[in-house]
Amino acid sequence: MMSRQTIIHTIADMRAFTSEAGSAGKTIGLVPTMGSLHEGHLSLIRRSADENDITVASVFVNPIQFDDPEDLSAYPQTLESDSKSAFEAGADAIFAPSAAEMYPAGFSTFVDMTGISEKLCGASRPSFFRGVLTVVSKLFGIVAPSRAYFGEKDAQQLEVVKKMANELCMNIEIIGCPTVREKDGLAMSSRNSRLTGRERTSARSLYTALTEAEKLFAAGETNPLKLKAAMIRIIEKEPCTSIEYALIVDPATFESVKEARRGDLLALAVDIGGVRLIDSKRLKQL
Ligand code: PAJ
Repeated sequence: MMSRQTIIHTIADMRAFTSEAGSAGKTIGLVPTMGSLHEGHLSLIRRSADENDITVASVFVNPIQFDDPEDLSAYPQTLESDSKSAFEAGADAIFAPSAAEMYPAGFSTFVDMTGISEKLCGASRPSFFRGVLTVVSKLFGIVAPSRAYFGEKDAQQLEVVKKMANELCMNIEIIGCPTVREKDGLAMSSRNSRLTGRERTSARSLYTALTEAEKLFAAGETNPLKLKAAMIRIIEKEPCTSIEYALIVDPATFESVKEARRGDLLALAVDIGGVRLIDSKRLKQL
């Protein structure tokens, strides 16, 4: 009989937990995370707990999706407090494997995608989506969920995972959840805690830029170059900011659009004092 609110470290134990639930006909929701949980993550866990009999949250800082070893070593690891808040939000189990458990010596199978995974975040970080898709595939194989929950904040990741699940016939429903923001609009992120006071103030400019572009669009501006220029102006005014990309893309292809339309995605990646933040927003009429 499986016990609830348990932290599981091995693949074998995780399989035993979910196969018991699966054979009892229970639906399983999976929320993959890298820990350092905030309200954004917890909103995914709550949604999964609402929609499924069993919710598993994984907490695993996936080494193979980091291009920069410093970014990996600076990534906060807070399993004890993460488990507490995940259980409070409705998780039944936390899957927290070690890197050696997920990638034993000799591990050599990776999931690669061409096309949309090579744009935006994939352009500057060539192994990022390969790492994400490989770990997400493993988690799907281990947990065998009916549904898996991902945030719209990482809009490209959400689309890439949906495409993989569809093209590899994984029979898992991929559910996108809205971005949870701080009061001033900054998208919640585990990386925000690494910003100093001034950098945190500068970080606000991502959301200001997105809302300004959205306002211009609602007022009739459809030239993507003008929308892009407005976003860049707002972000560059702030100290410590360095823009990696500021784009208006088609959300199906992640190609830059020639004319902005309702539903297109405004997408930003900005380095703030060495901390890389991303944010995005779909264009709608205000
Ligand atoms: P992580 O950055 O920890 O995010 C885990 C999940 O939480 C992702 O689906 C992400 O989009 C979502 N999320 C993060 N911030 C959010 C916010 N402010 N509002 C709503 N959802 C938010 O993304 C990853 O980890 C990893 O790449 C992972 C998918 C776990 C694979 O290693």
